[in-house]
Amino acid sequence: MNPNYSYYKLHEKMRAMEQFLNLDKFTQGEGNSLEQIRSYFRINDWAYRHYHSQDGFMHFRIASNGCFTEEDIYYQPDTVSKFIKPGDVVMELGFGQGANLLYLATCHPDAHFIGVDLGLLKTKDVPRNVTTYQQDYSNLPQFEDNSVDVVYAFETIVHNTDKEKIYREVYRILKPNGVVVVFDYALADRLETYDAVVQKAITVTSKGGAAAMMESLEELNGHYTNCGLKIEKCFDHTRATLPDLKRLERKAAKILTRPMLAKLMFWLLPDQFVSNIVIGYIGYDSANAGIGTYREWVLRKP
Ligand SMILES: C[S@@+](CC[C@H](N)C(=O)[O-])C[C@H]1O[C@@H](n2cnc3c(N)ncnc32)[C@H](O)[C@@H]1O
Repeated sequence: MNPNYSYYKLHEKMRAMEQFLNLDKFTQGEGNSLEQIRSYFRINDWAYRHYHSQDGFMHFRIASNGCFTEEDIYYQPDTVSKFIKPGDVVMELGFGQGANLLYLATCHPDAHFIGVDLGLLKTKDVPRNVTTYQQDYSNLPQFEDNSVDVVYAFETIVHNTDKEKIYREVYRILKPNGVVVVFDYALADRLETYDAVVQKAITVTSKGGAAAMMESLEELNGHYTNCGLKIEKCFDHTRATLPDLKRLERKAAKILTRPMLAKLMFWLLPDQFVSNIVIGYIGYDSANAGIGTYREWVLRKP
């Protein structure tokens, strides 16, 4: 890795935050049991709607022309849209607030959409071609072998430790030639290759975000191929997420650069809300330093 401005900035931010915030709180224990994942999204529901997308999209915007636009939120569902044909069965793993499901189901009225999440879909106006299940998607016994045409998962698999359990299940339910579209985070290199401060920032980002310890690109690619999925595309979108990450960093900085205000707010707010603000504060520098990357994978069942 070639240290740049953001690499030093990340060190400086970690040092500054440790003066008034006990970051160790976010690095201990497991952090990503199903109950912790569920409570993280329950606690941050309002923050996602307020700071991320009022329409309920919870993923990052991929800036097609280098600067922030609201419409860039459609990049991920539009990528999936290209694989959907009339009559297809399409499944979203981890639908969150349901915005992708509702958008794609409206664009493809002749396809059937299935959403699986630990949380409930709260929207009242659910299109007729959408069915949702509140359960862990690493176990999908109600779905038959070879029954789904397209599976997609945006920024959700990262929460789970046993990724191969999920991809074995996805492989089982997919029809031959079926496609999987994944957008998720990957470390550029294995965790142990980074210095102690960066490792701590990665741990805070992972466990503080109710996720498993972030894995490297090489480790993630291994999971897909071990489960029989063929990697057709693996694209690095990190630079295109920087405008959205910068926007969130600015919002978090309004709190985290004011220690007295931060101390008071963090005394009042739940830990899983505070960790989300910390992640927003360091996310831009981690990505710009080339540590955390954002990827698109297109996988196929042969
Ligand atoms: C960051 S949100 C992403 C939401 C959505 N994909 C989007 O792009 O707007 C991650 C979602 O994954 C869900 N999730 C994580 N692990 C899960 C699991 N094992 N089973 C079911 N849902 C899971 C969480 O409950 C959360 O709603």
